[in-house]
Amino acid sequence: MGIAFDKISQTWSLHTADTSYQMQIGPLGYLLHLYYGRRLDESTEYLHLPRDCGFSPNPYELQDEREWSLDTMPQEYSGSNCGDYRLSSIRIETADGISGADLRVKSWEIRRGKYELEGLPSAYAREDDAETLSVILQDEAAALEVELLYGVFYKQNVITRAVRITNRGSAPLYLDKAASGCLDLPFGEWDLLHFHGRYAVERQAERLPVGNSVLSIGSKRGASSHQHNPFLILCEPSATEDSGECYGAMLAYSGSFRMDVEKDQGGSVRLVAGIHDEGFRWKLEPGAQFSCPELILSYTHRGLTALSHDLHRFIREHICRGIYASRPRPVLLNTWEAAYFDFDGEKILRIAKDAKDLGVELLVMDDGWFGHRDDDRTSLGDWTEDSRKLPGGLESLVEKLHMMGLKAGIWLEPEMVSEDSDLYRKHPDWALIMPGRKPQIGRSQLALDLSRPEVVDYLSEMLSALLQRSGVDYIKWDMNRNLTDLYSSELPPDRQGEIAHRYILGVYTLLDRLTREFPRVLFEGCAGGGGRFDAGMLAYCPQIWCSDNTDPIARLNIQYGTSFGYPPATIGAHISASPNHQTGRTTPLETRFCVATAGAFGYELDPGKLSTEEQETIRKQIRDYHSWQPLLDKGDYWRLTDDRGSFVAWQNLASDRSECLVSLVMREAEANPRPLHLRLKGLDPEAVYVLEEQRFPSGTDIKAMKKRCFTGAALMYAGITLPAMRGDYPCAILYLKIQDEK
Ligand code: DGJ
Repeated sequence: MGIAFDKISQTWSLHTADTSYQMQIGPLGYLLHLYYGRRLDESTEYLHLPRDCGFSPNPYELQDEREWSLDTMPQEYSGSNCGDYRLSSIRIETADGISGADLRVKSWEIRRGKYELEGLPSAYAREDDAETLSVILQDEAAALEVELLYGVFYKQNVITRAVRITNRGSAPLYLDKAASGCLDLPFGEWDLLHFHGRYAVERQAERLPVGNSVLSIGSKRGASSHQHNPFLILCEPSATEDSGECYGAMLAYSGSFRMDVEKDQGGSVRLVAGIHDEGFRWKLEPGAQFSCPELILSYTHRGLTALSHDLHRFIREHICRGIYASRPRPVLLNTWEAAYFDFDGEKILRIAKDAKDLGVELLVMDDGWFGHRDDDRTSLGDWTEDSRKLPGGLESLVEKLHMMGLKAGIWLEPEMVSEDSDLYRKHPDWALIMPGRKPQIGRSQLALDLSRPEVVDYLSEMLSALLQRSGVDYIKWDMNRNLTDLYSSELPPDRQGEIAHRYILGVYTLLDRLTREFPRVLFEGCAGGGGRFDAGMLAYCPQIWCSDNTDPIARLNIQYGTSFGYPPATIGAHISASPNHQTGRTTPLETRFCVATAGAFGYELDPGKLSTEEQETIRKQIRDYHSWQPLLDKGDYWRLTDDRGSFVAWQNLASDRSECLVSLVMREAEANPRPLHLRLKGLDPEAVYVLEEQRFPSGTDIKAMKKRCFTGAALMYAGITLPAMRGDYPCAILYLKIQDEK
């Protein structure tokens, strides 16, 4: 059983296969955190010795026990204005002016299956795949009830957390902060590994020591953002890919978020994660409830790769939904870099014919097919086809694509509106604009006020009709600016602090309705590339366009950072033309292929502009991709190097260890190069692996590589040495398979 309560010590133990999480009802009913780490079957209530460290207050009822303070004991969900000066998890204000929160255990319950969060994306499970612990805390003076929810996923080594906050009083109260979770790590030194960036340079890994301060990552942009990702790792300073304690914390949330890490006076480290509290104020009427987004926690003592594997499996099996969660994704060709806004139906059909001839399965018509959108200044909101470009209408184009044997996809940006659009002319108040102020413009567009139910209803009806009549098989759901001017004409002044969260709830409602109504349509998330790459969006869109930067060398770092939390099948990765449109860099087609196979694979170019030789190469690429697709989608992704050396390497290993694809890309050309040596990982040491395929740039001297059969032990312990490769950005691809037992 995953969850156990020990009546004598008043301690809960939440067990997964390799981890244990413990908490205890302490003095006066305070909920104390005891332990989260390697699996153990003993209560750790002996661990935290009270100590008087001065200037840490004592609860009134314990005034003779100066050693006992909320400021020094590990907490499960820290209150505020009640003696714990560290990061708070919740801040409220009642109508009487009572502020802060002093929370004590009221009741608790263990349930089979996984809790659900109304209106928010969260992990799902069958009844026997997970258990739920619900602990209700209360602050009597404030008539506040806080339900802490824990979802225990035994096999995946994941514990999800969420919080529901209820006003049990007779007057409204205001939530000024409502975190999804708090995790105290009372002992040890920790590094923070997080993923920062900017447009076209998303999720760059940065590792920092947690010193005596607060480290804060987050977004106030109304989207999880290009700049920070709602995922971080706390690991031992000595932790490597292969060993060491690591905690992963990931929010299933796509709006403004905040993840703070504080080391306190006693050396204890606290993580608090949830909705960003700046500008947030939620009014709770008597009896009303507020749900905080889900926080996904995972722990391992086996290093960063093991942590990634647990999270990858969890996302694949408990976050991604719909038929494409487990089904191979079609190889797509997206027209954005092929044509930008310069296309019509004929050109699309010509690209489609060429693409089909190469083996592409899905043609995606990107931005520019609707309204009169010849550039990015107009028509968002008017989701009817531009008859100049598509005289026969969308249905006719989709039908023609289907007749060619292709699936058909279109680009949409439903959350936005252009000033030059019929929608804006009809409903100017539907845009986020502050009265008396000129709004900020982003990419010449305004954001719709999705905090308003009628806007969400309008969009869902309009999009449902569009999907119905057009028969498309795929939607690229884009979002090309961040929110500003948070003001909604529909909300009273004391509810304006709710808009950013209500906006993202509106996005989730829309996506929920459409994905349920059109279960066969593949939705791909996008926000100017990877500006909203998070587990919240993955609950609706099983793949997300990782970055607008399609340069394979720049992608190495972006995909490296993304891989810590998110599985390859969720990471949209396309082969584009060379020289690359974002960086101007020229790279070999094989290298672009190699990098794109580390994600949800596709193309982003005009196949008609390729040479006959390149077209033949792409035909083979697509055949190869299909033969490796089960391994790439369902196998485990192993980082073999970091992202800083002269080459970057990774491997995809089947979960039964029977086959392995090794990929290596040179970032720099070197004279008199050092040996290219790699140690593979995770193989069966006893088994013999046959090198069935090895691909190097032409001209590489592979004479010395005579050996074809290796034991897993040799490949892992001694490794493999590859021949030097010359030229700009070459790559090597090796495919190994366990020898058939005869
Ligand atoms: C941003 C996306 O990331 C691109 O791939 C493309 O769809 C453009 N928007 C279209 O405007």
